[in-house]
Amino acid sequence: PYPYFAEMREKAPIYYDAKLQAHVLSRYEDVSFVLKNHALFSSTKIRVAGKLQEERASVQELGSVSNLVTTDPPMHTRMRGLVSRAFTPKQISAMEPRVRELSRALIAEMASRSEFDFMEGLASPLPVTIISEMLGVDTSRRGDFKRWSDTLIQSSSATLQSGKASEQVERSAREMLTYMQEVAEARRREPRGDLISLLVQETDGVAALTPPEVNSFTVLLLIAGNETTTNLLGNTLNALIRHPEAYEWLRREPSAASCSAVCEETLRYDSPVIGLFRRTTQEVEVSGGKLPADSSVLVLLASANHDPRKFPDPERFDPRRDTNGLMSFGHGIHFCLGAPLTRLEAPVALQELMERAPRLGFAPRQPEAIDYGGSFFLRGPRSLWLQ
Ligand code: HEM
Repeated sequence: PYPYFAEMREKAPIYYDAKLQAHVLSRYEDVSFVLKNHALFSSTKIRVAGKLQEERASVQELGSVSNLVTTDPPMHTRMRGLVSRAFTPKQISAMEPRVRELSRALIAEMASRSEFDFMEGLASPLPVTIISEMLGVDTSRRGDFKRWSDTLIQSSSATLQSGKASEQVERSAREMLTYMQEVAEARRREPRGDLISLLVQETDGVAALTPPEVNSFTVLLLIAGNETTTNLLGNTLNALIRHPEAYEWLRREPSAASCSAVCEETLRYDSPVIGLFRRTTQEVEVSGGKLPADSSVLVLLASANHDPRKFPDPERFDPRRDTNGLMSFGHGIHFCLGAPLTRLEAPVALQELMERAPRLGFAPRQPEAIDYGGSFFLRGPRSLWLQ
């Protein structure tokens, strides 16, 4: 999907983008080097195309606290230790029955129509519902939670572009802050088995997150965890429909392993996150060139995943290939915390879909060119009309 990345890898492995004011790295080896060396490439003070001038109080409050992705050790080590207690393999695999049940219900509802928007019917509601259940949002507030989270997610790209959040975003941020504070307070007094309880309690000598950290982490989960998984599901269906041979292979043997293989290859082939920013802490040498100290670096995960030095014949979509080492979840200390959850959710949803609707194709109203919504960093269809 990225012909210009191939040209960058060959002709300009370090490319200075004046608009982004960043050095862009596109080779697998360089991307891996940057992400592995967090002491040379910091995650703090990363700058995204200009300055975010945020005037609205609640949006500012939500964005102001350092969260996991924007910290370096030792702060990162402490926070990661705290929150990773909620993402152990055991906890994630225990969620499988619920993910399956919810996928099945959403698919039944969606597939009862002659044509449907896959994004609205399954790809978007599945991750947000699972996250809200994990957090421990009350059943009666899940509709609100979905609305707040949709608004915040939609606004995150728009806010980055315009530097301003809308009135509606401010209202959602305020409502969500108030609600999450209430929940955190209630769980501090009376813990339950949910994620918020875990974050606000001291356990095994590990201190609790402070109230602003809880809020900031919740928003991070929504923004980092929902749209990405939604994109992956959308990209998977899009890839399958456009590669009938792979779709047929999956139909012949729709096992859990085959569904996982298809999702892994989609992660590589059509990465939901295109790139990540870092900031150099000193002058560094990469791929035959030098990066100045204190400069912004953009590593292209999507390009690393298409580097023929790592993945032979990279433009071929092939679920049988070895996808080990794919960069879609990042690499090193910030490696995606939610990867095991996504690796459960996406294949289970795909397997349920193969059971109920194994022969999907584009509906006539789906335009040939997918609308990716214009985001520079995230890639997934805004809508995907299937039948
Ligand atoms: C970090 C991608 C799903 C939570 C990351 C990073 C990437 C990524 C590339 C690294 C950021 C960096 O190094 O600066 C993805 C993709 C997903 C996905 C492609 C789905 C297809 C999720 C889910 C959750 C989640 C479902 C949570 C439920 C996080 C968190 C971090 C993170 C908390 C920060 C980790 C840290 O800084 O230590 N993700 N993610 N992600 N992701 Fe994901």
